[in-house]
Amino acid sequence: MRTGIASALALAELILASSGPTARGEGPTYSKDVAAILQKNCQDCHRPGQVAPFALLSYDQAKKRAADIAHVTGDRYMPPWPASTTFGGPFRDQRVLGDAEVATLRAWADAGCPEGDAKDAPPPRAFAADWPLGTPDLILTMPEPYPLEADGDDEFRVFVLKTDLPEDRWIKAVDFKPGNRKVVHHIIAGIDVSGRARELDAKDPKPGYVALGGFGEGVPLRGFLPIWTPGSRPRHTPEAAGYVLPSKADLLIQMHYHKSGKTESDSTQVGLYLSAKPLPKQVLTGFLFPEIAPEQAAKLADKFRAGMAAGKRPSLEETYHDVLAIPPGEPNYAIKGSSKAGKMMARPISRDILLTSVMPHMHWLGKDFRFEAVLPDEKGTRLPLIQINRWDFNWQGTYAFAEPIRLPKGTYFEMVAHFDNSADNPANPSHPPRLVTWGEQTTDEMCIGIYEFVVADGSSPAASSPIPKAIAPAAKP
Ligand code: HEC
Repeated sequence: MRTGIASALALAELILASSGPTARGEGPTYSKDVAAILQKNCQDCHRPGQVAPFALLSYDQAKKRAADIAHVTGDRYMPPWPASTTFGGPFRDQRVLGDAEVATLRAWADAGCPEGDAKDAPPPRAFAADWPLGTPDLILTMPEPYPLEADGDDEFRVFVLKTDLPEDRWIKAVDFKPGNRKVVHHIIAGIDVSGRARELDAKDPKPGYVALGGFGEGVPLRGFLPIWTPGSRPRHTPEAAGYVLPSKADLLIQMHYHKSGKTESDSTQVGLYLSAKPLPKQVLTGFLFPEIAPEQAAKLADKFRAGMAAGKRPSLEETYHDVLAIPPGEPNYAIKGSSKAGKMMARPISRDILLTSVMPHMHWLGKDFRFEAVLPDEKGTRLPLIQINRWDFNWQGTYAFAEPIRLPKGTYFEMVAHFDNSADNPANPSHPPRLVTWGEQTTDEMCIGIYEFVVADGSSPAASSPIPKAIAPAAKP
């Protein structure tokens, strides 16, 4: 009897062992191992009609690209996720392969792409409906389709979507339905109540108007909304908080278009989920700008005095024009920012907040970016928020924390970024390199640590002034 059980167990072990890949000296197969990795990490973009140039839905498609797949995943070039996985986060919807998955893709390619038994393959992935959160309360559509040529540089264009609501409303979630996913690379959204965006639109002969880094010159943005990148999922705002949508406001979308090789047309929609009643808390956006060195501060003060005397507050552009000045040929230009009390134009946060997301912003010369919070405890504990080791202007996005991070009153933010203005930087838009200063154009630079938050307790009334006020001299503590 005993021996019977023992031998039955031994037999079972033997059967189990022999069905494992190692026991039979086998490597991974498409059906058993590779298909699931591609479904989870690649198919958001690599399927027909999406931003990636080819599909990875079938065995044949994957086999054809096996060597490239092993290469780009080994390099961590794909899936696109520029943020560090060891500093900051954890982030929602993080798309990063584990070392074992990378090794599986490599071993599979090296072994000549065995398909394995088709009945081991997972069922094909189901993709989310157009509006995964349900039908939005308000759907805004681009006023007319925008035509794109087959080839040429990427385009950055802002479109003005009129809301025409009779009263202020609160937005609980925002979703986007790109009209043509082959060309829409990302979408940034904001709110304008000044009418300035309409003016810029009227001046540009084509639908919408050109704008690179933001929403166009002189647009005093009232608020930022979540942004869209391929594969991103809409999210609700934290409890009792929303984005304010003032009555009659214009919703601006800045589209980043990437040419597909064929003529295309896009008509993107934005879906808004609105709260039935006003909410006590507002989702707010904060900005950390570069630190102004003492020697520049005096010059800047003169500029402000002259500007104010002439009745015109200097713009963000004028303020920062020389603060960021990257000499041609410089491969590692450092910029720092800090909102520590005492720094020019900086102040620590004045109430406990819940930090919901971060979004580093630079242009083409950006190289790396680190963003931290420094807590008001005795040790000045540093809380890593995000680090981007290989900045890629094409893959910038909002990084939403898996759970909002509570930061106590007195916390301040710090950032360090580097820029490469050498001829060796393939992303450098100027040949030969030239002096690059702060500005909105492709050939200018910026460096901003953008973050989204709500106050932790109590309420935060609707903002009554546009965002860039935060950097006006009045904000100095
Ligand atoms: C967020 C969208 C997205 C995801 C997710 C994604 N890709 Fe891509 N992929 C792209 C785009 C866009 C391109 C073409 C432009 C480029 O090379 O950046 C591309 C290009 C590629 C290339 C060609 C690279 C070259 O140098 O020609 C390969 C191979 C590839 N992807 C494999 C993968 C694999 C494997 C995964 C999953 C592990 C993946 N991608 C996930 C968007 C994506």
